Amino acid sequence: MDHGFASDNVVGAHPKVIEALVSAGQGTEPSYGYDRWTGVLRAQFADHFGSGARAYFVLTGTAANVLCLQHMTRSHEAVICARGAHVDVDEVGAVEVVGGRKILVAEPRDGKLTPEAVEPLLARRGMLHAVQPRVLSVAESTEVGTTYSADELGLLCEWAHSRGLLVHLDGARLANAAAHLGTSLGALTTAVGVDAVSFGCAKNGTLLGEAVVLLGPGLGDGFGHQQKQSMQLAAKSRFVVAQIGALLTDDLWLHNARHANAMAQRLAAGASRVPGVQITRPVESNAVFATLPVATLVRLRARYSFPTWDDMSGEVRWMCSWSTDAAAVDAFVDAMR
Ligand SMILES: Cc1ncc(COP(=O)(O)O)c(C=O)c1O
Repeated sequence: MDHGFASDNVVGAHPKVIEALVSAGQGTEPSYGYDRWTGVLRAQFADHFGSGARAYFVLTGTAANVLCLQHMTRSHEAVICARGAHVDVDEVGAVEVVGGRKILVAEPRDGKLTPEAVEPLLARRGMLHAVQPRVLSVAESTEVGTTYSADELGLLCEWAHSRGLLVHLDGARLANAAAHLGTSLGALTTAVGVDAVSFGCAKNGTLLGEAVVLLGPGLGDGFGHQQKQSMQLAAKSRFVVAQIGALLTDDLWLHNARHANAMAQRLAAGASRVPGVQITRPVESNAVFATLPVATLVRLRARYSFPTWDDMSGEVRWMCSWSTDAAAVDAFVDAMR
């Protein structure tokens, strides 16, 4: 069974990440983030996200999300996200159970949140019996592979701040969004007023390891302690740091994301020429969503494993990654025929 299109984390690590790991393994270094690589990586994050960015390095994307959202709120405050958001449906309730924060869900359009969708959730503000919304959590790119433009994000942040909400960006695929939009990482975050980012790295080429980037004023105090208390500070954290450093060196993150996106475009173009196959969402990152005739689906699933996204419509999701090659895409499309 071929799992190549099931997810963007079914692949190994980029060779440059492995090289960085090997060189980080030489000799001895202080542990728990006191090593020399951590300061260098923090400076690299400041180059990408602006001089005020404070970066921390954790083990999973779920941990990045939970730590950000917990840090941005008090226990009576809530997080608003889109229906279907990873933080709500794919983290086993970690924000609620581990983070101790309630999640409220708004209806997205094309995977994206709008002020109109969020405003009704603010109706019980001030009521003693209700959780108080404090953070808007958006995914860039979204769970359905679409992207918010910088302008869209800017307007959403401006509105959120005017309503007393902070903005968290789940950037598990921020690299793919930036590559698609032709922007820098900072242009989709710092420049538009995002307060905190979970910056995804595993899908972009690391073995494991993700970053939390705190941008908003007032965030960061005690974050290191919170990270350690939450069991997210690896003793040998230099091995996480080395991997992420490789992605930020010579724009490997951008190269990898551009490649994954280009493979998704190739896949969508090929699949849309197969009789009966419909591409169901705009392809704006490394994800392709489609519906297929039952016979085509059965034929494809005999060789390839990939998830059904929507049980009602039978819509499926295919993901491309930094290591998907064009021949594999063409073979996948051929198998559909
Ligand atoms: C939108 C989104 N956020 C966060 C994550 C991070 O999850 P994990 O805890 O598996 O690293 C993922 C991974 O699939 C994701 O798709």
